[in-house]
Amino acid sequence: MNSNRKFRVGVLGSGKGSNFVAIAEACAAGIIPCEVGLVLSDVAEAGILEHARQRGLVAEYLSPGKFRTKLDEETEATYVARLRLAEVDLIVLAGFMRILKAGFLNAFPGRIVNIHPALLPAFPGLESWTQALDYGAKVAGCTVHFVDAGTDTGPIIGQAVVPVLDDDTPATLHERIQQAERRLYPAVVGAIAEGRITINGRRTAWRK
Ligand code: GRF
Repeated sequence: MNSNRKFRVGVLGSGKGSNFVAIAEACAAGIIPCEVGLVLSDVAEAGILEHARQRGLVAEYLSPGKFRTKLDEETEATYVARLRLAEVDLIVLAGFMRILKAGFLNAFPGRIVNIHPALLPAFPGLESWTQALDYGAKVAGCTVHFVDAGTDTGPIIGQAVVPVLDDDTPATLHERIQQAERRLYPAVVGAIAEGRITINGRRTAWRK
């Protein structure tokens, strides 16, 4: 490998792309030793594609196929092929609203990460900030984890905690969590690029 080659990240997202923007800005500013090689979305009009194109990055919509919550086998193979072609070292899920199945996971073993807007294992699944409020939790936050075959179940790499305030609405709590996400996710991606994350079964270690 060319020693000047930067650690290359492929980002998958379905939504507005605020986590992607935080990672792309950290790359561009040289805060993390990475570059975004490719952005893929299953939603043609997703903000993440627009943000990527504005930054001159390769950003593509790939039709998700016939299912609502996952990629069908053929589509999955298309995603995998596109990411391989881009020679990405790490796949970063940033609001990608489909569950990845074995064909995808096995193509990139230990090289897929996700961010979830809760302190896992509490509140997996959708609208986790609303789940936290409804439960009466006093803290909330976000979790970056490796992706395995479950939903929000892979080994945890890093978490950030935010307070739940008495007058929070789902919107205000969600915004506070997303601010924490925009700090945590670039830091984790940079640490992986620098080889400072090790994994031993379910336990990971982050050398600061
Ligand atoms: C984030 O809150 C993340 O935790 C969840 O999806 C959301 C994506 O937001 N997995 P954005 O598209 O990065 O703004």
